[in-house]
Amino acid sequence: MAFLSGLKIASALLAFASPSLAVGVAPGQIQNFVTFGDSYTDISYYPTADGGYSWPTYAAEYGPFNVYGFARSGATCSNNLTYRPFPPIFGYQLPSYFGEVSNGTLDLDPNETMYTIWIGTNDLGANALITGSDAPDVSLVQVRECAIDVVKVLYASGARNFIMQNIIPLELTILYSNYSFPNIYWDEQRNTTEWNVFMKELSRSGNALTELMLQALVPTMPDAHIASFDSYGLFTDIYNNPQNYLNGTAPLNVTGCINSCSYTTYNDPNPATCVTVEGTDRDSYMWYDELHPSEQTDRVIAREMTAVMKGEANQWATWLS
Ligand SMILES: *[C@@H]1O[C@H](CO)[C@@H](O)[C@H](O)[C@H]1NC(C)=O
Ligand SMILES: *[C@@H]1O[C@H](CO)[C@@H](O)[C@H](O)[C@H]1NC(C)=O
Ligand SMILES: *[C@@H]1O[C@H](CO)[C@@H](O)[C@H](O)[C@H]1NC(C)=O
Ligand SMILES: *[C@@H]1O[C@H](CO)[C@@H](O)[C@H](O)[C@H]1NC(C)=O
Ligand SMILES: *[C@@H]1O[C@H](CO)[C@@H](O)[C@H](O)[C@H]1NC(C)=O
Ligand SMILES: *[C@@H]1O[C@H](CO)[C@@H](O)[C@H](O)[C@H]1NC(C)=O
Ligand SMILES: *[C@@H]1O[C@H](CO)[C@@H](O)[C@H](O)[C@H]1NC(C)=O
Repeated sequence: MAFLSGLKIASALLAFASPSLAVGVAPGQIQNFVTFGDSYTDISYYPTADGGYSWPTYAAEYGPFNVYGFARSGATCSNNLTYRPFPPIFGYQLPSYFGEVSNGTLDLDPNETMYTIWIGTNDLGANALITGSDAPDVSLVQVRECAIDVVKVLYASGARNFIMQNIIPLELTILYSNYSFPNIYWDEQRNTTEWNVFMKELSRSGNALTELMLQALVPTMPDAHIASFDSYGLFTDIYNNPQNYLNGTAPLNVTGCINSCSYTTYNDPNPATCVTVEGTDRDSYMWYDELHPSEQTDRVIAREMTAVMKGEANQWATWLS
């Protein structure tokens, strides 16, 4: 008992003596954030794939922070693993970032800068893991190792503050639900029950792997602050308790979407028919379309991510270092 409390005092003194040993970032420390990821985070065009402004734009306003957005729609972590004809993190987003750092376009103090990584939706999804369209030797394991490699590469270049946003419950999106229909993201025949079950396995196992890999990474990264952000938990809570998050003028809706485009049959040669929700009714919806969160969901993500970047305690984030 005496030994234990002595230890506690010793570690408290140690933490006091060298702030870099503290867990998490300090309030007021973060001025900038740099994003890597896919359409959920892409702010390079408007309206974004989420139908309005997406979370980094709101987080930059709420902070306020300067945002440097390298995330790009359609991206996977690496096209060497899951090939899609869009700009991946490895192969496009990291090279763009390092290009700007090396020619002086970007000059960010590592202490004041947060790096966010949110990848996985396209790696796990249609035309990738769930349809077996990945490279022959690839599985969920390499795809999640790749997300960890993003942190490694950035750390090696001097970055010190990271938030790894985990994979959302993709099984709750309309695309991967068991009531799915032919839509612009997938119009071929499939067994929706099996897709729904398989996607739940992929997203949950992918997140568990990532968490274990991150925990193993922490001791190799002195002076780093790494948070694990539970997007899976946050989205599940929005789905189960929409009244705590959604505020539009229509009945709250977590199973339909603002912009739904469907085909009448599989491989329909005719154009998709779209039904759109307008105005203040939109904020009643969790989803923008069959795969993307709505702008109101993005505001919620932004609010929570902002709190984490400001060094506030947050129920969806765990600081691992
Ligand atoms: C990082 O920023 C915090 C808050 O502004 C400050 O307390 C700390 O000394 C800085 N650390 C370094 C290594 O510059
Ligand atoms: C992807 O493959 C290319 C071509 O073989 C190679 O140059 C590159 O280093 C690979 N990238 C990754 C992240 O493995
Ligand atoms: C710096 O590099 C980036 C990325 O390669 C490029 O887009 C930009 O035009 C470059 N800027 C200058 C001033 O060279
Ligand atoms: C669809 O999935 C939901 C949620 O898991 C489940 O409650 C429902 O029974 C499933 N329906 C069918 C037809 O499988
Ligand atoms: C879809 O898969 C489920 C689970 O394997 C099975 O019970 C069901 O019969 C399948 N549906 C069709 C239409 O094949
Ligand atoms: C819902 O709340 C957000 C803030 O989270 C606000 O910006 C938005 O205007 C609200 N929507 C409606 C329809 O009141
Ligand atoms: C959810 O929204 C869709 C699209 O507007 C609509 O078709 C569906 O009936 C709504 N569901 C509920 C439960 O209100």
